[in-house]
Formats: sequence, structure tokens, C-alpha cells
Amino acid sequence: MKKFLALILAILMVCSLAACGASNDAPADEVKEELIMGTNATFPPYEYYDEDGETIIGIDAEIAQAVADKLGMTLTIKDMEFESLLTAVQSGAVDIVFAGLTVTDERKESVDFSITYATGIQVIIVPNDSEIASVDDLAGKTIGVQAGTTGDIYCTDEFGQDNVKQFANGALAVAALQNGQVDCVVIDNEPAKSFVTANDGLKILDTEYAVEDYAAAISKENTELTAKVNAAMEELTADGTIDAIIAKYIKAE
Ligand code: ARG
Repeated sequence: MKKFLALILAILMVCSLAACGASNDAPADEVKEELIMGTNATFPPYEYYDEDGETIIGIDAEIAQAVADKLGMTLTIKDMEFESLLTAVQSGAVDIVFAGLTVTDERKESVDFSITYATGIQVIIVPNDSEIASVDDLAGKTIGVQAGTTGDIYCTDEFGQDNVKQFANGALAVAALQNGQVDCVVIDNEPAKSFVTANDGLKILDTEYAVEDYAAAISKENTELTAKVNAAMEELTADGTIDAIIAKYIKAE
């Protein structure tokens, strides 16, 4: 009888050891590679904080999550200054930037871009009673922009640095417009709509200042990731996932 009990004990021990072993090397979750996305979460509906003030939501966050899922990776989002994003991806501090980021020839010199997934339009926000009616009226006016954005670059080129006031984000530029510190704000159309909805007395001019493409940025040294992300984004475009994500945040007019 003692021998029998000892045998049972031995079998139990072996079983539990085996189970332990299995649980040590089995879970695929723990070995999943991390995809670190850099963004600047001041840009609704592409990236902004949920009402809880902790979770970054928006079109870019969801597209990045769908890409990470396809690649079997876990997504981590890092919020930083817009102007730090490209350096962060170049230095490897982040793997990818999704930030309503416009593809430009100048940026292409420092990073690689994925396929494009959305169109952005630089528009002009003015107070309802403004005398500014089109791009031609901007000369000599004080223009508010988010520092480092294409709106900043174009306006500085065209109207000179003295006429452009840089802010850390679009909401601050719009607040300065409300205070009369700037005469207008040049910014991407979708955030513009959300800022105008959230603030009384402002409107968006009909004239478009520039039409651009949004894409993700990846280090030039990480061509393997760019290829994988592009393949995933092509599938997500083909099966309608990207359109559905965009439609969830941008209601057709
Ligand atoms: N599309 C503009 C650019 O690339 C503005 C992007 C701002 N994005 C943001 N997440 N704040 O320069």
C-alpha cells in the first residue's frame, strides 16, 4: 500500500512538473514582439485622449492596433511632442509614427513612409466676423499653427516667420485665436472641424490651402518592418477595415 501511495505521489509530481514546464514556454502572449508607436495625441479624430484622460483613441490608434494584430505584435503607444516624432523613429525610440503625418519630400529624406491611408487638407479657421475670406487675404496677418506641422512649414515659407505663431498643439493655437492673439489658424481639416465644434464663434473657410496624404513613418534602417506594415495595411485596405475605422470617426456629411 505504501509503495502504491509513493507511486501515485511520484506520478502527481511528474505531472505537475510537466504542467509547469508547459506553462513556462507555452504562452505566445509573452513572447509577442512589441510595436511601439509614437504619436502626438492632440489631433482629433486621428489621435486624442478618451474621456478617461488616459487612453489614446482615434483613427491612427485603431489602424495601428489592426496592423499590430495582423503582425502578431502587441501595440504600445507613446505620446510625445509633434516635433520630436521623426527623431524618435530615426533613433529607434519608437518603431513607427502614426500621427496624421503628411508625406512630404523633405520628410522622405529622413524617414520611410508606408502606403497612404487618408487624405488631409490644410484649412483656415477664422472668427465668424473675420475679414479673411481666402488664402489671398493671409498676407500680413498673424497665423497660428502647430509647431513643425505642414501648416507651419507652408505658412512660414509663404508669409514669413514674423507672420506665423507656433503653438505646441492645435487647441492652443485655437485658444489664441479666441483671445485675438492670432488672426487665423492653419491646420488639418478634421481636427479643424472638431476645434470649431468645441469653440463658439469660429468657422472654417471654404478655400483649401493644401491637399496632402497621410502615412505612417518608419526608420529607413527598418525596411523589413516597412514591408510587413505595408503588407498588413494593404490587406486592411482590401478587406474594408481601414475604411470602417475612418467611417467610425468621420461621419459622412
Ligand atoms: N498633417 C500635418 C503634418 O504632418 C499635421 C499633423 C499633426 N499631427 C498630430 N498628431 N498632432 O505636419
